[in-house]
Amino acid sequence: MNRKRVLVLADLPGRGVERLAELCQVTVRPQGVESEAELAALVPGVHGLLTLLTHRVGERALSAADRLEAVANCAVGVDNIDLEAARRHRVVVTNTPDVLTEDTADLTWALILAVLRGVVSGDRFLRRGDFHGWEPKLLLGRSLKSVVLGIVGAGRIGQAVLRRAGAFGVRTLYTSRSRLPAEQEEALASEWRELSALLAESDVVSLHLPLSGETRHLIDRRRLSEMKPGSVLVNTSRGPLVDETALAEALTTGHLGGAGLDVYECEPEVHPDLLPLENVVLLPHLGSATLETRTRMADCCCEDLITVLVEGQRPERDLVCNLSSPRP
Ligand code: GLV
Repeated sequence: MNRKRVLVLADLPGRGVERLAELCQVTVRPQGVESEAELAALVPGVHGLLTLLTHRVGERALSAADRLEAVANCAVGVDNIDLEAARRHRVVVTNTPDVLTEDTADLTWALILAVLRGVVSGDRFLRRGDFHGWEPKLLLGRSLKSVVLGIVGAGRIGQAVLRRAGAFGVRTLYTSRSRLPAEQEEALASEWRELSALLAESDVVSLHLPLSGETRHLIDRRRLSEMKPGSVLVNTSRGPLVDETALAEALTTGHLGGAGLDVYECEPEVHPDLLPLENVVLLPHLGSATLETRTRMADCCCEDLITVLVEGQRPERDLVCNLSSPRP
């Protein structure tokens, strides 16, 4: 029997790819691809594709992929994939929700704590040889119980961040397109606000929205000016939600008190004005980066490819819901 061809654009943890290779003809390209043009040259004859969030899959790649049935994206965000084009080309697209929710929420709190309590600047201070003993006014941060945390986007990850707030005694607000049911608000002990009000009232604002045409630069110069003086912006979702130039300005002028960033507007580039700022903690997109979660994410992708290519079924995580329509 002719086994279907799968192109895996990454070196992934776990044994998922091995299991996939027992059923399909798998090519692993650990270095991925640099551009969509490079991907387009590789996809003719390929039935399944395992991509990362850094791989653009748009009309160009999809129209070159004459046999493609499924793309499994090893990320919850799918802003790198043109879902409309996938729908037109009758290609199933899956992502990896749920499995990374808790780890990403944990990392969000790591950033909140790091910025408010000077964890990274304190470490730098000590390594510079500046620590000469306990001092009453040394590197004073902010008490968590005195801050209001505002969550923008109360989906899976936003809610997981809210669930952790109670343990720190932090009061929370949230904003989202549709308000959560009253019993959920009560369970999360969080109050809904319209975005401007949330920005004005929060000491820490944390972003948990997918990137789309609607959310690109949601936090622009105007929104930054609405934030409370001295407040902190945390972003573990997608960099382009924030106008990074405007953010660097707001931090440099002192309007904002700090930032904790895991994602960047032009990843992996970071705005050069952010790099020297002591009150900014910068991480290299580590939200889901634990061995357990990254293994689970890889497994999900491999399972979804098997579901489509070997079992001929529609995976639960299909985002375009179109396997039932045959390829034209
Ligand atoms: C990571 O950013 C993801 O979308 O999974």
